[in-house]
Amino acid sequence: MALARRGSAIARWLGLIGLAVPVIAFAAYSMRFGLRGLGADLSAETYIYTSGAPLFNLAIFAHMVLGAVIMLLVPLQLSTGLRLRFPRQHRLAGRVIVGGAVCVALGGLAYIGLRGTIAGPLMDLGFAVYGGLFLLAAAQTLRHAHAGNHDRHRDWALRLLVLIMGSLLFRLHYVLWYLLTGGLWSTEQLDGPFDKVQYFAFYLPYLALLELWIRRRGRVRA
Ligand code: HEM
Repeated sequence: MALARRGSAIARWLGLIGLAVPVIAFAAYSMRFGLRGLGADLSAETYIYTSGAPLFNLAIFAHMVLGAVIMLLVPLQLSTGLRLRFPRQHRLAGRVIVGGAVCVALGGLAYIGLRGTIAGPLMDLGFAVYGGLFLLAAAQTLRHAHAGNHDRHRDWALRLLVLIMGSLLFRLHYVLWYLLTGGLWSTEQLDGPFDKVQYFAFYLPYLALLELWIRRRGRVRA
């Protein structure tokens, strides 16, 4: 019995480490890219940098830095143990995440509006809907926390978590797809058939699964 309990604790820790590694790796990449773009001219290295447009570069590279910060903070908010032991820190981290999420989404939307994404209108649409949902989830999470509506606060916080992890899932889909197929139906301009599905597939299916889970949990409780 004790052996089985220890086995399941080890499996849980291994699972957590397996989830933490890609999150930390992508957050580190995003943070480093963002800080480099804020501190130096990267126009020779990436199309994302626009020479002579400091405010524009500030928006998109601060987007990457803040995106990394909220990605690292948001999983900690899920722990009931931490929330009950450190309620003030939970509220403070929550405000940082919501404020950061609003800036991340506005930075991404400004980029789409002023420059457009690498693949054009359909990718613009997929990422603009993503940014809009990001803003909505951040606002609703805060609103329901202030209103003391705990169930709704938690549901919106979970939607925000899924959206934040969406930016990592977008890249993970590509890593897996390239490992499995060598990049079939995908182009450097991100306008192949696989890429077009990805404009929406990194957040919509995961949000749909979360909605099913939220509804099922509601029925079980009723
Ligand atoms: C935690 C959330 C996010 C993180 C960590 C993040 C990070 C990044 C990074 C690192 C890049 C540089 C491209 C790359 O190396 O892959 C990028 C580009 C971009 N991001 Fe985000 N992002 C986040 C959320 C969002 C949201 C909510 C939007 C929607 C408005 C968005 C829109 C964009 C756009 C449009 C680009 C440029 C795409 C292109 O044309 O290449 N991002 N982001």
